Amino acid sequence: ANLVLLGPPGAGKGTQARMLEDAFGLVQLSTGDLLRAAVSAGTEAGQQAKAVMEAGDLVSDEIVIAILRDRLAEPDCAQGVILDGFPRTTVQAEALDGLMADLGAGIRAAISLEVDDAAMVTRISGRYTCAGCGEGYHDTFKTPAVEGTCDKCGGTEMIRRADDNAETVESRLRAYHAQTAPLIDYYDGKGVLVRVDAMAEIGTVAQELNTIVKQAT
Ligand code: AP5
Ligand code: ZN
Repeated sequence: ANLVLLGPPGAGKGTQARMLEDAFGLVQLSTGDLLRAAVSAGTEAGQQAKAVMEAGDLVSDEIVIAILRDRLAEPDCAQGVILDGFPRTTVQAEALDGLMADLGAGIRAAISLEVDDAAMVTRISGRYTCAGCGEGYHDTFKTPAVEGTCDKCGGTEMIRRADDNAETVESRLRAYHAQTAPLIDYYDGKGVLVRVDAMAEIGTVAQELNTIVKQAT
């Protein structure tokens, strides 16, 4: 099945998508990760995206849709994908419907992770990631068993994102409310929307998502 995870920055999309990937053999497709990879690789799209991402604005639909289309065409995606951070505009949602139709597939569920704006700032400012395997952590809410050592791969290099600072978080939130929140109605209208209280603990949210995904697959 193909699923969409909707939610503001810091809602837990990446955290939950990685767990669903492990539990259901779905492929996590994060346009944020794909864009950050393009920025580090210095591709033309990456060069255009860099400043926009650092300002906390949305990268153009054209660039993001092209990146997503290429990734979705890779063979592993046939087992089903969890879209994390895409679509983020109505134009992207319509493009996704088209891409899915071309593949003879569809979006089985759009899961909206609902959190308070105040919580997002705390979540984002405490976030860090293992450089080796991409596992996500938090200074308070998700610490590795051994401080500074990744639970998953044993790596000891941890990184923080350039856009995880207080000013950029405000812009990202504004972009979410103005451009992405309308997709909640978009998917509700298609009858595939599921709302989840993402203020709960990581494990509680994960259990709820497990139930939803089981029903959708
Ligand atoms: P992207 O990488 O998608 O970032 P985002 O949407 O801002 O989402 P985050 O990765 O910040 O949050 P998350 O929901 O994944 O939370 P996480 O699980 O890490 O996008 C970055 C930029 O790229 C955008 O600003 C834009 O410029 C561009 N971009 C990307 N896609 C685009 C698109 N489609 N169109 C245009 N531009 C695009 O959790 C956060 C922290 O909280 C972690 O530390 C975690 O451990 C902790 N946590 C998670 N859940 C809980 C919980 N339940 N309780 C307590 N702590 C928790
Ligand atoms: Zn790791």
